[in-house]
Amino acid sequence: MNSEEARKLLDIAKKALKNAYAPYSNLRVGAALLTKQGKIFTGVNIENASYGLTICAERVAIFKAVSEGYRDFLAIAITSDHGKIVPCGACRQVMAEFSKDLKVILGDENVLEIHTLSELLPESFNGSFLSSDN
Ligand code: THU
Repeated sequence: MNSEEARKLLDIAKKALKNAYAPYSNLRVGAALLTKQGKIFTGVNIENASYGLTICAERVAIFKAVSEGYRDFLAIAITSDHGKIVPCGACRQVMAEFSKDLKVILGDENVLEIHTLSELLPESFNGSFLSSDN
């Protein structure tokens, strides 16, 4: 993932956020998830009057992809209408379920950062802790 590819994915995330449903926080978030097969799934945050039912843009993108049979991801770009944001802890954990080596692209029109998921979520809880050998 070079910075040109990262910028393209971030631009797709930015376009997607027009469909965000965020009447309570007024923070519109967009995500664009690139699969190993080269397919891109977008996601937006979808809020609810019962606040706890809100879902983040990143999880919408990941759940869309997984529900369509895609589980191997190269990168996810995230942005908002308030500039650069970082993914919440719950979304980092959901990312870790599928792709340890995921690149996480953050920024806005002026900022572009390429992180690794292991940098953002070191020592993540994972399925190995659920095996009967532990
Ligand atoms: N939000 C996301 O979509 N992704 C994040 O990683 C952080 C927060 C959304 C959820 C909620 O609709 C709004 O931002 C304010 O928390």
